[in-house]
Formats: sequence, C-alpha cells, structure tokens
Amino acid sequence: MAESEGSAIVGGSGRPGGSAQPAVPDGAAGSDFVVVANRLPVDMQKTADGIEWRRSPGGLVTALEPILRSGQGAWVGWPGVADADVEPFEDDGLRLVPVPLSAEEVENYYEGFSNATLWPLYHDVIVRPIYHRHWWNAYVEVNRRFAEKAAQVAAPGATVWIQDYQLQLVPKMLRKLRKDLTIGFFLHIPLPPVELFMQLPWRSEIVEGLLGADLVGFHLPGGAQNFLILAKRLGGYTVSKSAITRSKPGIVQVGFRFVHVGAFPISIDSGSMDEVSRSRSIRERAKQIRKELGNPRKILLGIDRLDYTKGIDVRLAAFQELLEEGELDPADTVMLQVATPSRERVESYRVLRGEIEGRIGRINGDFGEIGRPAVHYIHRPIPRDELIAFFLAADVMVVTPLRDGMNLVAKEYVACRSDLGGALVLSEFTGAAAELRQAYLCNPHDLNSVKDALVRAVRQDREFGRRTMRAMRRQVLTHDVDLWARSFLSALARSRGQGTEAHLTAQPADPSLPAGIEHAAVTELVEYVDEPATVGPGSEAGER
Ligand code: ADP
Ligand code: G6P
Repeated sequence: MAESEGSAIVGGSGRPGGSAQPAVPDGAAGSDFVVVANRLPVDMQKTADGIEWRRSPGGLVTALEPILRSGQGAWVGWPGVADADVEPFEDDGLRLVPVPLSAEEVENYYEGFSNATLWPLYHDVIVRPIYHRHWWNAYVEVNRRFAEKAAQVAAPGATVWIQDYQLQLVPKMLRKLRKDLTIGFFLHIPLPPVELFMQLPWRSEIVEGLLGADLVGFHLPGGAQNFLILAKRLGGYTVSKSAITRSKPGIVQVGFRFVHVGAFPISIDSGSMDEVSRSRSIRERAKQIRKELGNPRKILLGIDRLDYTKGIDVRLAAFQELLEEGELDPADTVMLQVATPSRERVESYRVLRGEIEGRIGRINGDFGEIGRPAVHYIHRPIPRDELIAFFLAADVMVVTPLRDGMNLVAKEYVACRSDLGGALVLSEFTGAAAELRQAYLCNPHDLNSVKDALVRAVRQDREFGRRTMRAMRRQVLTHDVDLWARSFLSALARSRGQGTEAHLTAQPADPSLPAGIEHAAVTELVEYVDEPATVGPGSEAGER
C-alpha cells in the first residue's frame, strides 16, 4: 500500500493542529479492527542470508498478539529497523501494515523523544528526561505518518486502537482524518504525577492529542486520575468528578464530544501459559536447568528488558550484600539474570549495561568458584518455552522495578506455577502489585526492604507458599488478557455516539463480562475537584 503524501495535519510550527485533508479509506481491503502500535508484533532482522522476522520485545506485544491473532484485524507498526520499505503482508491470519522510519527518525522520534524524553519522564524521572525541539518535531511527523496509515487501513466505521506513549498524538490526528472511526487509546506505561508531567514543554499538545480518542485507558486508577487533572488544568475542560474505579470511568467534555477515561489493568494469556507449563517436556527442561545450575538449594531468577526502570541493579546489590553478610550462602544459592537487549543506542541504556555487567563481575569475582558463578547472566532474547522452563526452575522470582506500568513477568511466573511452588518478590512500584498482594512486596528504593523480602522468600514455609501462590494464581487466571481487551473494547463501543444525555445515566452492563469488570458511564458531569498528586506508589498506583 502506498504512503499517502501531503495530508497536512501539522502546521508550520511543527505542532499538531492545522487543517487536515481527508484521507481516502482503502474501502475494499479496509479492516474493521485496527491496532496501531510503534512496533509490529514481529521485528525484522537483517541477516547474512536475507531477512528474518522475530517476535518483538516487550510486554505490549506479549499482551496484544494473542488477541489479534485470535480474530480478524490489522496491525499498523514499524518493522523495527531503519529504512525498511516493506509491503503489507499476512502473518498467520493477521494483516501487518508496516510504517517505515528513516534512520534519522529512529534517532529523533524513537530513541530521542520516545525513549530519552517520554520514557524517563513517565517513569518518575529515574533518569533525567532530555528535551530537544528537533526530537519533538520528529515525534509530530512520525505520529502524523501513523495516523495517515491507520486512516488508509481502517474500513468505514472501524474501531482503531492506538497503543502507548510513542503515539500519543495519533488519536487527534486520526480523528481529523476520519470522523467515522471509533478511536481508543491505551497507555502501557505509567502516567506520571501532575507535577512531573508539567515539566514537558509540549504537555498541552500531548493531552490534546490523547483527547482525540473516545476512550483513554490506563493500567490503574491513579493514571486516569492524573489525566483528568491534566485535562482540566491544561485544557480547561470540564471533567467528571467521579472516582476512577473499575466500575466508573471519568469523562472529559471536549466541545460536543465526551472522552471517557478509565483504568484497565493489562494481563497475559494466562490459560495458555498455564497449559504450556504443565507439559512434560517443559518440566523435564526445568529439571535439567536446575542441574545445569549445579542443583543449588535455591535459584533466584530475574527476567527483564535491560532497562533502568527494572531495578536489576537494585536486586544485584541486595543479593551481593546478603552474600557478604552470610545471610545467603553462594554454595547453595544462585541467581540467574536474563536481560533482553533494549534501546542499546540510547546513552542511559549503554551506561546501565556497563554498570550491571560490572556488578555481576564483582559478585562473581568475590563469591564464585570455578564452574560455579554466583550470578548467571544471559543477555539475549530467549524462546518462550525456555523462558517458561526458567519460571518453573526458579524458587524465587525477583521483580524489583523502580517504576513499572504493570510488569507482565510477575504474572507470567504465577501463571506457570500450577505446582504451587516458588515465591514472588515484587516491587510496590509495579502495577502488578495492586493485584498480587500476597507477593513479598518491597520498596526498591530501600535496599533493606529488598533484602528483607529476598530473605523471607528464600526461607518461605512450604505450606504458606502454596497458599499464597494459589491466591495469586486465582487472580491471574481469572483476569487474563482476553478479559482486559474485552473490557476495554466494550467500554470503547459504549463511549462512542453517546455524546449527549446518554452520558448522564449509567450504561447497560455488558453481560459477557464478569461482575466487577464492567465500565459503566458516570452519572453526572460536574466540575472536577483537583486532588493533590503524589510521587510514589500512590500516584499512578492510585487506590491500592
Ligand atoms: P516490558 O514491557 O517493560 O518489557 P513486561 O514485564 O511487562 O516489561 O513484559 C516483558 C515481556 O517480555 C514478557 O512477556 C517477558 O516474558 C518477555 N521477555 C522478557 N525478557 C525476555 C527474554 N530475554 N527473552 C524473551 N522474552 C522476554
Ligand atoms: C514496553 C513499552 C512498549 C515497547 C516495549 C519494548 O513494553 O510499553 O511500547 O514496545 O517496552 O520496547 P521497544 O523500545 O524495544 O519497543
């Protein structure tokens, strides 16, 4: 499909706005359901023999891929390498529509504005966000291209679901091009507290961009609350006073439109992970992994993208101190850290890799023996089945992000432990902590808290562990990614075309959803009363 040229959404200032020319929907081949994400679910790899497609990294793809593959739809996204000019193609029933990015756009839009401005800002400025006007201009340009591509691909009256922080301007741009569409947006990372968001030089443009959607979704009520405050403060909009709970979304009135805002905690395909983890071959592999690690008494496991938000350095520091203090014995306790390479050309990621590998080297230098390191380290993607075998082999799963929108790894571990074995150490600063209350919760900013949680998990009483694992499994298995998608999409369907009095009364429940998951409209539109935003678990994590 050809790129459409010249549909000007962006004015001369490089800011979104200006008049849009209508895009021409590709009626014949148009899809009724379109996902728009920065990445396609598969990542192009240029090899010596040509081109190879591999699964893309990260939780967004983990969550959305099974949903899209089970239905009919199109996925618009970047193929993962610069200057790749690929035609749309079918992959296992899914229509993939590539959006090309030049090397300069990868540098300015992806590595720059998305991952050196927005990513650190939205993760509580763990590293300092960098604000460059030319990065912003690239972000606007690339968002425009995604909007145009989505406008071409969507059938008349289609539903378009836009994903994540890389594409926050697309909802407004797409609405200008295609008023017939129902547009949803979901943010996969935390929306930061208001006082941090206010740093962003383009804060109003981002909020306006998101308000182009019919429904804006966050993982947790705190994120939705933050967004309502921003819509009022930056846009002067009237917003509903309703508490952001699972049963009551907030509403922002934008002209004659009503934009719904709600919390939809994402999850995993827990049923299929549970099933795979029960297979004989995976169980055999798990045993073999334990053997390969020297059959230690306790195996601690970390699995993350190599990202400074994940607190890999924190858990290593805690492990190191526990070895130094003799609380853990390197003769019978090992840590396995799997870290997928991520955003390797961004400076803060390069620095982090050096620090982590340096620390692992020091721990092994101090505590390892020949053929028996204290920390085993893998820096590459791992096949799904192997990952599941790691989960089964591990006595303690260590998840210690300084901030994480949800953290699917924690849920995956729980879904794989049908044997009710294992223990989960989980940072309070993850979205998952709101659901997995029986985990060994810790504050990753407090090394003693992490050490304490590790020790308690390692020494866990077997019966107590089985009880808590059973409770966490109940949560993860009943709240899977299918429920997440259905609850978002049914709320989206109801949000559309009800721009007047219909909003003032509760909407009928979707009978296909379990009680408590429904997202009914709020009962009244009144002035929203600002509430103080806080930094820390209380902000995005809201009502926990
Ligand atoms: P994020 O989206 O920030 O990367 P999540 O924990 O939400 O974090 O999701 C990460 C996803 O990537 C999970 O599905 C996890 O199993 C997968 N993953 C993490 N590390 C690896 C790896 N080394 N190889 C393969 N998959 C991985
Ligand atoms: C997180 C983000 C996703 C992103 C993924 C991998 O899950 O929320 O939007 O795709 O990390 O990061 P990458 O930069 O490699 O796409």
